[in-house]
Amino acid sequence: MMFHIKKVLSASQIAQCRALLQQANWADGRVTAGKQAATAKNNLQLPEECDEARQLRAIVLEALSQNAQFFTAALPRRVYPPLFNQYSGQTNSFGNHVDNAVRTHPATAQHVRTDLSFTLFLCDPHEYEGGELVIEDGFGGRPVKLPAGDLILYPSYSVHRVEPVTQGARVACFSWLESMVGNPQQRELLYELDMAILGVREQQGESETAVRLTSCYHNLLRMWATP
Ligand code: NI
Repeated sequence: MMFHIKKVLSASQIAQCRALLQQANWADGRVTAGKQAATAKNNLQLPEECDEARQLRAIVLEALSQNAQFFTAALPRRVYPPLFNQYSGQTNSFGNHVDNAVRTHPATAQHVRTDLSFTLFLCDPHEYEGGELVIEDGFGGRPVKLPAGDLILYPSYSVHRVEPVTQGARVACFSWLESMVGNPQQRELLYELDMAILGVREQQGESETAVRLTSCYHNLLRMWATP
């Protein structure tokens, strides 16, 4: 299941991020790629330890922590510190690959199992040609190109790529997270139930049905979550 989460960043947060990205020094993107991915990866990435990256991470993590849809879709347990990449000129694509299953958090040395990957777009689609994120779904893949500030959340087990950027520059934030509910079917069922409860509340207000369904949600979460 993929989720399009709109307006994760406000216009002023996007402007702040882009100003920081403009002044930063970019490096070869292969530093965080696994062996197979490194052969397919041809882009630029912001060094994790640079000052701009630190400020950018803080903005994104704060926005994510306040986003209810992100929380209910991902049920995040550990988020790997977000990274930033650029596709332009000669460094403009990332062929088919699967993200590494486990990442080690650079600050805490904790392992993060990558259940979900996300890309948070920092440019608008009209600013560059190409650059679609294509997530293979067994039917040839689905191209994703979202407005600045929007995020796509997708299963880390899926094969995906970024098509060559043939004009302009595509700048984005990306990362991985370990979910409290590792089983994707269980996580999706919880999401569906949560959305259904919201619908019931909208139609009926606080009702006995809403309370009973909410109780089911929390008891399933209790059964399945590793907090
Ligand atoms: Ni990837």
